[in-house]
Amino acid sequence: MAALRRVMDSRWLFHRGISRTSASRFFKTSSSCRTVMPAWVIDKYGGNDVLRFTKDARFPIINYPNEVIVKVCAAGLNPIDVSMRGGYGAATMSMKRDPLNLNQTENEFPLILGRDVSGVIMECGLDVKYFRERDEVWAAIPPWKRGSLAEFVVLSANEVSLKPKSLSHADAAAIPYVANTTWSALVNTGGLTKDNCAKKRVLILGGSGGVGTFAIQMLKAWGAHVTVTCSQNAERFVRGLGADHVVDYTAGPVEVPLAALDKFDLVLDNVGGSTERWALNLLKPWSGAKYVTLVTPFLQNTDTMGIADGMLKTAVIVASKALKHLAKGVHYRWGFFAPSGLALDEIREMVDAGQIHAVVEETFTFAQVPQAFAKVEKGHARGKTVVQIDKLDT
Ligand SMILES: NC(=O)c1ccc[n+]([C@@H]2O[C@H](COP(=O)([O-])OP(=O)(O)OC[C@H]3O[C@@H](n4cnc5c(N)ncnc54)[C@H](OP(=O)(O)O)[C@@H]3O)[C@@H](O)[C@H]2O)c1
Repeated sequence: MAALRRVMDSRWLFHRGISRTSASRFFKTSSSCRTVMPAWVIDKYGGNDVLRFTKDARFPIINYPNEVIVKVCAAGLNPIDVSMRGGYGAATMSMKRDPLNLNQTENEFPLILGRDVSGVIMECGLDVKYFRERDEVWAAIPPWKRGSLAEFVVLSANEVSLKPKSLSHADAAAIPYVANTTWSALVNTGGLTKDNCAKKRVLILGGSGGVGTFAIQMLKAWGAHVTVTCSQNAERFVRGLGADHVVDYTAGPVEVPLAALDKFDLVLDNVGGSTERWALNLLKPWSGAKYVTLVTPFLQNTDTMGIADGMLKTAVIVASKALKHLAKGVHYRWGFFAPSGLALDEIREMVDAGQIHAVVEETFTFAQVPQAFAKVEKGHARGKTVVQIDKLDT
């Protein structure tokens, strides 16, 4: 009944004109009487000092019949958490959060960060058929939703997947966001699949961080030949994950040794900046080869110019670059994180088959969330930073 009450009280129903009777049909179960929960929140954008622990964060509500509430056991951090703490993407995220809410700051704060979750389903909406209470699941949480640095989080069931049995929650929380990003970039945008990857030559610019360490393993599991750029001190690390060829970007202009290699079928760019000036020259021309970059100005444009002008500028930039490179016989694309429980289902099989391992660089307790942010902010990642939540030892 308490869960039902939470929905009855929700302003969401008011905004969408849904009756209380129909709201009651959203639920199969109501297993909690809680209205508040512990969480790390921010009340304004800024540095690490804006992170605040509270025991009174609003308990998540099932708003749609296909949603589930997950009890968080472990959360993973990503560079976007640090950026969002500083206000990155605020304009677009506010629009995505609730397009009907004209006073957008009203539901922006307190904001809960944390994009990866591994946990246990506590409650299911009525349309949820695939999951049951107590299922162990993992998911990547879209940046416009409340994050996983909390005791509970609400997600669409199609963003969620059953957790690999072979992984602890702490290890599982290291994978979903980088996995969904890599899948979106390589499969949806890059056109690679497990059936067409054999012997394809792929270059990963920035192989030692979260995305890179996951992408190396997925591509190797699919039979690709993988070349990676990283710092000299990460060479053994990325070779241990399966990289066939490693180029040290700190030894001089990295495009020089890369240009001496056979050309590539796909370049995944996790670095950005000046890489665009030379990386497309490394592709096999007129063969369908693609450059996919994850470092795009999209959110920066909407932050500085507003949604309409920012999106227009973004569309012009990407279209003109794509046309310019198409004339030279190669494809230029932007890659974006896309939540997908289906992709995580496939990745779970690779994990349980021992083809992909969680690469956890450091684990923090729930009390140490500010230290975890400081770690991610320092850069030079060698895999992922994870926060163990279930102990709630703040
Ligand atoms: N578009 C999207 O939706 C999306 C989604 C996820 C991530 N991203 C972006 O993709 C990038 C990678 O994400 P991530 O999670 O993997 O970040 P990360 O975990 O912080 O890793 C970045 C890695 O790159 C290495 N590096 C830095 N400069 C380099 C260079 N010039 N050449 C080669 N390696 C370099 C760093 O180590 P050293 O500094 O020690 O070399 C670090 O290991 C970030 O910019 C992130 O914002 C975008």
